Amino acid sequence: MPQTHIAVVGSLNMDLVVQVPVIPAPGETVLGNNFATIPGGKGANQAVAAARLGAKVSLIGRVGADAFGEQLLANARAEGINVDHVGVDEMAASGIAMITVDAAGQNSIAVASGANYCLMAVHVRRAWEQLGPVDLLVMPLETPLETIETAVSLANQAGAKVILNPAPAQPLPAHILAGVDVLVPNEAETAQLTGLPVETPADTQQAARRLLELGVGNVVLTLGSRGALVLDGESGGFTAVPPYPVTVVDTTAAGDAFVAGLAVALGEGQPLVAAAQFANAVGALAVTKQGAQPSMPRRAEVENLLKGD
Ligand code: RIB
Repeated sequence: MPQTHIAVVGSLNMDLVVQVPVIPAPGETVLGNNFATIPGGKGANQAVAAARLGAKVSLIGRVGADAFGEQLLANARAEGINVDHVGVDEMAASGIAMITVDAAGQNSIAVASGANYCLMAVHVRRAWEQLGPVDLLVMPLETPLETIETAVSLANQAGAKVILNPAPAQPLPAHILAGVDVLVPNEAETAQLTGLPVETPADTQQAARRLLELGVGNVVLTLGSRGALVLDGESGGFTAVPPYPVTVVDTTAAGDAFVAGLAVALGEGQPLVAAAQFANAVGALAVTKQGAQPSMPRRAEVENLLKGD
C-alpha cells in the first residue's frame, strides 16, 4: 500500500508541565510534584502521532530562533517528519504551553502562541507548492484563521481531504466549514461552535446535526472517556464508538492522537466508522502515558489493542 501523505498545518509548543494533586482554582496556589519540558503543540502532536502510525508527514508551522525552537524541530525531525516548511522566526519566541496535570490525569492548558501566530497564508502557499501530492490536510486551530482558510482552499483545489480539529474553539466562517470533509470537535468545542447545549445524548446528536447544517461534510465528535460519536454526512446516520477501558495517566494530547489516527485510517481507505474505531484506540493508548508527543502510540500497539491483545 502506498504511504499516505499527510500535511499538518499547525502549532509547535514546548509544554511546561507540572504534576499536581489537584488543578489550582483561581487565586489558589498548589504545591506540585514533578516538572518537565515536553514537546507538544496540537499540530506537532498530530504530526508525530500520524508518523508513528506509518504515514508520510509534512509539518507546516513556525518556531522562534531559540532553544525551544531548536528542540521542537529536532524532535519532529527525529520522528521522521518533513520539517522543511517549519520556519524559524527571528522576531517571535517559540510557542509554549503551561500545563498542570492532576492525580486523575486531567489537565488544564494555557498557551502563549508566539511564533505559531506568525504562520501566515504566504508560508502555507509556498510550502504547498513544494510538497508534491498530499492526500490529507490536518489542522487544529492554534494558528491564524487566515492561514487555516488558505490551507483549506489549497487542499480543496488539490482534491486532498480536509480534517479540521477546531481546538481551541473559535467562531468559523461558513466558507471554511464548507471546505472541511471531517470535523473532529470535543463536546466543549461542539457547544461553542453551535451555541447549543451538549449535555445529554439527545443534545449531542442535535448539536452534531447542526455542525452538518453549518457546512462540514461529516462529524466525528470525541467524548473523552465515553468514546466517540460519528455522524455520517451522506446517510445522516449516527454510530457510537465505545471507549476502551484503559488506566488514565495523562489525558494531554488524547484528542491529537485521535485526530491523527482518524487521518491515517482514512488515508488508508478505511470507511469513516472504521477509521473512528482505529482513532479511538490511538486516543485510548495516548492517555496511558505521560506527556504529549512521548505518549503517542506506535502502529503495533494500536493493532494489538484492536485485536484485544
Ligand atoms: O492538545 C494538547 C496540546 O495543546 C499541548 O501539547 C499544548 O501544547 C497545547 O497545544
